[in-house]
Amino acid sequence: MNHAIESAPAVVRATSLGHSIHVEPLTCTIGAELGGVSLAAAAVDDALLAEIRALLLRHRVLFFRDQDITRAEHVAFARRFGELEDHPVAGSDPDHPGLVRIYKSAQTPNDRYENAWHTDATWRELPPFGCVLRCVECPPVGGDTMWANMVEAYRQLPDDIKARIEPLRARHSIEASFGAAMPIDQRLALKARYPDAEHPVVRTHPETGEKVLFVNAFATHFTNYHTAANVRYGQDASPGASQLLNYLISQACIPEYQVRFRWKKNSVAFWDNRSTQHYAVMDYPPCDRKMERAGIVGDRPY
Ligand code: SIN
Repeated sequence: MNHAIESAPAVVRATSLGHSIHVEPLTCTIGAELGGVSLAAAAVDDALLAEIRALLLRHRVLFFRDQDITRAEHVAFARRFGELEDHPVAGSDPDHPGLVRIYKSAQTPNDRYENAWHTDATWRELPPFGCVLRCVECPPVGGDTMWANMVEAYRQLPDDIKARIEPLRARHSIEASFGAAMPIDQRLALKARYPDAEHPVVRTHPETGEKVLFVNAFATHFTNYHTAANVRYGQDASPGASQLLNYLISQACIPEYQVRFRWKKNSVAFWDNRSTQHYAVMDYPPCDRKMERAGIVGDRPY
């Protein structure tokens, strides 16, 4: 599986300021829980931050328990990795721009939209680098989040599929996702503010050089599928493109690529949005679930 993770047992890694991080991999493919770390302290400790960044690249999603931090400390930690961004549909904390509130309750039964496998905000030209998500209130049971390793998903594709998708690009749309539940005028206004983005179907991770399968629930179609090899005459109506796209999107559903996290109040997940997808399991209504997410601006996928 992930050949970078040679062994699953926990390890303790020392940082230069005397901290030691307890690293407990949760699977051999993706995810590790880090103990002995305060994110408030990490925000002002360059050595600790560098260690966390290296662990993020290795495990793709990091989990921290008992982070009884303020919103300002949450934001300060995430800001060490880049600028933060608000979300056009989910609002942010008024006192902490960039800290998006994902609050769900019995009063908002239709406002539950994270239960699709997705990479955050690929409808942006510059999708997020990563996100730092803290649990403020969790249901007594349920409401887990799952992540999938999309480097592994790419690596395991058959060679003929890899060859077919190498040159392909795909359109990603907020209009077709968040906008789809809106009245038409709101939907068109959203689309005008956030025109569809186009990204490679296989991106290269900018830090590790790994190839990543980069289509998800926001992808609507391939933009350059119509080649002589794929299409016989004109607008050949074969279902090849949509079948291929659906097949690729479905790869995140394979359990061997996944980790599943059980939230507690003050648990934090920090994921690399460039190499993962995630799915918030909507099995907790009518209970409440409150999460706060700092999304860090990323770069242009290539
Ligand atoms: C998200 O989709 O970014 C939020 C995931 C969650 O609420 O668990």
